[in-house]
Amino acid sequence: MCGIVGYTGKGNAAPALIDGLYRLEYRGYDSAGIAVEGENGIQIVKRAGRVKGLECARGLEGHAGIGHTRWATHGAPTERNAHPHAYHGIVLVHNGIIENAYTLREGCLARGETFVSDTDSEVIAHLIAAEYRGNLLEAVRAGCEKLKGSYALAVMCEKERGKIVCARKRSPLIVARSGENLLVASDLPALAGEAEAYALGEGEFALLDGDITFYDASLSPIQKVRTEFDASTELADRGGYPHFMRKEMAEIPAAMRRTREEAEKTLSLSPLYEVLCQTEYIQILGCGTAYHAGLCAKTFLEATCRLPSEACVASEYRYRDPIVPSNTLAVAVSQSGETADTIAAAELAKERGARLVAVTNSPDSSLNRMADFVLPTRAGREVAVAATKSFNAQLVALYHLSEALARAKGKPFSPLPDLSAAAEETLLRSERVENWIKSFQNARTALFIGRGADFCAALEGSLKLKEISYLPSEGYPAGELKHGTLALIEDGTPVVAVLTCARLAEKTMNAVHEAYARGAHVFLVTTFLEYAGREAVRDAVLLPPCDGLLSPVLSVIPLQMLAYFVSVARGADPDKPRNLAKSVTVE
Ligand code: G6P
Repeated sequence: MCGIVGYTGKGNAAPALIDGLYRLEYRGYDSAGIAVEGENGIQIVKRAGRVKGLECARGLEGHAGIGHTRWATHGAPTERNAHPHAYHGIVLVHNGIIENAYTLREGCLARGETFVSDTDSEVIAHLIAAEYRGNLLEAVRAGCEKLKGSYALAVMCEKERGKIVCARKRSPLIVARSGENLLVASDLPALAGEAEAYALGEGEFALLDGDITFYDASLSPIQKVRTEFDASTELADRGGYPHFMRKEMAEIPAAMRRTREEAEKTLSLSPLYEVLCQTEYIQILGCGTAYHAGLCAKTFLEATCRLPSEACVASEYRYRDPIVPSNTLAVAVSQSGETADTIAAAELAKERGARLVAVTNSPDSSLNRMADFVLPTRAGREVAVAATKSFNAQLVALYHLSEALARAKGKPFSPLPDLSAAAEETLLRSERVENWIKSFQNARTALFIGRGADFCAALEGSLKLKEISYLPSEGYPAGELKHGTLALIEDGTPVVAVLTCARLAEKTMNAVHEAYARGAHVFLVTTFLEYAGREAVRDAVLLPPCDGLLSPVLSVIPLQMLAYFVSVARGADPDKPRNLAKSVTVE
């Protein structure tokens, strides 16, 4: 999991590489490095930490180079483990995981070779160097044959000036031509504005040497069709907001509106309608925030369509030998459409006979390519690692899918309201959570509680808080608190209760009182004024009126906002939390 770039052309490589890496930082920012081929050979500069550490190398002279921004898998995020890795004139950057790295490394050590890093990637340079007989492309292919796992590679060689060889297996790689410049990148944002881009296929190779030549797995040259990419991959800016996360929250209403329009269009298409008519079981697959969107949708689906459904953590699903009954509809939810676990789970569901709908925010993503149907979210590009507007958009898409299912199954269903104006109002009302941060800033733990759909929102609120503020927190079913988690509550422990389902409100209030009686500072996110004023409640965000089953699309907003304020107050970077990455393309 990392971002890789490459450049060979007439201009200076270093600025192109560094600027490209900035745009790929969403894939990881533990360390960064570039290799530039100058008059006196290939020079490598690496730094632990973010890409900005490479600014010192912007002036490096040379017309070809490769670069890397890392999300550490094997080996600590140190300068020593940063890419590019070099061995005997072979220099490379790698995205992916080499599963047999240990065995391969043992073989190299037995031959007397030495290693300078703890990464799985360094061994690839050793393998290619061992195969090198004057032709880099052939050496890369021979080296790749020994690898198990996933890789996207950009490789240079001291002896073959100006050349970059690319290879990929289960990790994305794009090659592009822009005038006389040839470029490589893990993803499109690094190539923003470039004219002619090609997605390297599974097992294919590319040679950049004045022009681009593509090869299949046996190195026979192949022609490739230019890939049409969505113009919305433009590089985003903060638009005057202090952080991308804040800006992206402000975009929630527009994201919901656009997704609703898109869903109405997509779901009226007849082939999907026929599949929905036959559907008897639903499995929603996702990771992180996307999984939480799946949980909310499951609650809604079951209540409204009375169709059995489950939300599955994709990384568990792929290894649990899942039962996929006939007429199962698998719904893979993913902002990026590139999450390795979600892709693998979706593949498995398909293999076992499910029809696959992809709900993604990325039109050119791998998930979209493998799906039978695509239900796009139109959240626009999301840069902050913590998903916000994409979650709200996923909910809108999934609620509309549920509505289409209900219709196809002949179930009564009241038309879905457009909640984008209510989201606008909720954003305004959520500003007050800035006053809550005193209770959170120095707390040892925080709790988010709710029942039914409110519990799903609580889970997402808790995830947001821990991922960007590093404050341990738990999302918990309100009724379960008394069975263990209540023990965490001490004087001043912040507890946020979500309370929007009329049927469950009094029950959740029982848990609120139990927590309050033990010293908790209780905050409420609710649609009911009568609870907001209770003595046990320190403060509340009152949501606009909304059906309790649809309410997570609103109730999550103050929770996202709370996480943002606490993160800033605790001195963290809400856009780039430590140890995480926006798009996790490794297992
Ligand atoms: C990473 C991100 C999370 C995200 C999850 C799933 O872990 O840090 O914010 O929810 O991946 O990403 P996806 O692109 O599949 O929605």
